[in-house]
Amino acid sequence: MDYTAYAGLFRLDGRRALVVGAGSGIGREAALALAAHGATVVAADRDSAAVSETAAAVGTNGSAYQLDVLDPGAVSRAAAELGPVDVLVFTPATNVRKRLLDYTDEEFDRVVDLNLRSSFHLIRAFGGPMAERGSGSIVGFASIRAVTVEPGQGVYAATKAGLVQLLRTAAAEFGPSGVRVNAIAPGVVETPLTAPIKARPDWYDAYAAKSALGRWAEPRELAGAVVYLASDAASFVTGSVLAVDGGWTAIDGRFDPPA
Ligand SMILES: NC(=O)c1ccc[n+]([C@@H]2O[C@H](COP(=O)([O-])OP(=O)(O)OC[C@H]3O[C@@H](n4cnc5c(N)ncnc54)[C@H](O)[C@@H]3O)[C@@H](O)[C@H]2O)c1
Repeated sequence: MDYTAYAGLFRLDGRRALVVGAGSGIGREAALALAAHGATVVAADRDSAAVSETAAAVGTNGSAYQLDVLDPGAVSRAAAELGPVDVLVFTPATNVRKRLLDYTDEEFDRVVDLNLRSSFHLIRAFGGPMAERGSGSIVGFASIRAVTVEPGQGVYAATKAGLVQLLRTAAAEFGPSGVRVNAIAPGVVETPLTAPIKARPDWYDAYAAKSALGRWAEPRELAGAVVYLASDAASFVTGSVLAVDGGWTAIDGRFDPPA
């Protein structure tokens, strides 16, 4: 084979991507990076002003779609209205940082409804038509909290571990139809979701020191993983969890022995 064909390995020309959560943070950067690789991008979010900004930044290959994923009817309608989607990326999630004994049932429901239930609805609404067409790539966002926890992360961590298993099951069920399903597990990334941590220098610095790289990530540093999993570069990758965590989950970090 002519090796120059590899130059197009990550290209997404002719593909249509839907990025849910594209109004902010990692989702916005994912939308921009997918478009830069040739995809037509539908940027969706609950926040219509924010998602219009993302679509404008994408330019002629971008459009905005207002979508509240907490409304299952709206998710089904979106799948019908938007038509064929080759790539689905979704990011919406929330966290209530409280110890288990302090959690209310309402807070539990709020975190589970957005992080897990809405993911379930998105995977079903868009994965079904992808399976019928015989191709597609679904990328969901888990977290280092799917595997490693700390006090105050219980419900968020449970939803992220649950999301990994949901995505793996979707990979098993849709794989025979040619649809790939994967998770990205970020470490700490500077976005509105983590703004409360940045406001506390001791907390912020401790998290920076935990990773092998000794710092937080910028949202754009997650974009490459999204493009990779969306593209043919990942044509044999499904059911995987791609850590983009600066080494957070690779190392213990309690102590640096004088070895
Ligand atoms: N930021 C981090 O440090 C970090 C670390 C690990 C994992 N993650 C995961 O990465 C993903 C993206 O995180 P982020 O930091 O970019 O978040 P973010 O808060 O910056 O962006 C989330 C987007 O989702 C949208 N959204 C919220 N509720 C919605 C709803 N009901 N319907 C539609 N859109 C809705 C928001 O308007 C926002 O644009 C999340 O799943 C998060 O759990 C983030």
